[in-house]
Amino acid sequence: MNKRTLTIGSLIPRNISINKVSKSNPSNPPDPEYRHFNKIILLQKQMKFEIQPTKGNLLDVALGQEQALQYKCRKGTCGVCTVKVAEGRSSLSLPNEKEQSKLKKALNDGYRLACQAEIL
Ligand code: FES
Repeated sequence: MNKRTLTIGSLIPRNISINKVSKSNPSNPPDPEYRHFNKIILLQKQMKFEIQPTKGNLLDVALGQEQALQYKCRKGTCGVCTVKVAEGRSSLSLPNEKEQSKLKKALNDGYRLACQAEIL
């Protein structure tokens, strides 16, 4: 009786090459926006506020973390809650109609209505 020892290598047909799995590509560093995903930095009237992103309304999350953002109507009409998002824009929802109407071109400079922006 012919005893032949089988190994993993012996089961792979000879005409198939096995590609090595490449490790991380150092030429593609992570998006800088995502490197700081663990915080959102807001500026409002020369004040800086740092919040830890949790799901919910940006104003509510900030107030819940004892960040004293100014606000008034909470409906997207007064504009008192306007903040400049210095860091963490990618963790926020896209501007809604109220923000687009109130902030117009300022949206392009990173301004948001904290009572309307949602943390994703
Ligand atoms: S509190 Fe008035 S627009 Fe946000």
